[in-house]
Amino acid sequence: MPATININGLQQALPADPRVSLLDFLREHLHLSGAKKGCNQGACGACTVLVDGERILSCLALAVQYEGRAVTSIEGLAQDGQLHPLQQSFIDHDGFQCGYCTPGQICSAIGMASELQRGVPAM
Ligand code: FES
Repeated sequence: MPATININGLQQALPADPRVSLLDFLREHLHLSGAKKGCNQGACGACTVLVDGERILSCLALAVQYEGRAVTSIEGLAQDGQLHPLQQSFIDHDGFQCGYCTPGQICSAIGMASELQRGVPAM
């Protein structure tokens, strides 16, 4: 039985190559292009996704590290055709700038709000 990872609510087989980053797995294997490759070295945050609700930089993570975990990318935030409130807020308040980093900013903001609720804000 192949190792799997949950991506936006769907079980996916992990890549056979353990060197594949989570970002490349999302973008190149699953064709989920929301998380962006900016710096590809952990400096910009454009690749931020949520793993079990916590924000991570997917360019610095190997997909196989997250076997059995639940990853949410920007594509998985809307529920039943309704945008996540933070997605809607970015629209309402014209928070896009050029838009390239917006998916990472939204995922990071959701993770940060969760950290504040739990009293464990990260830097
Ligand atoms: S692409 Fe810049 S932090 Fe991941």
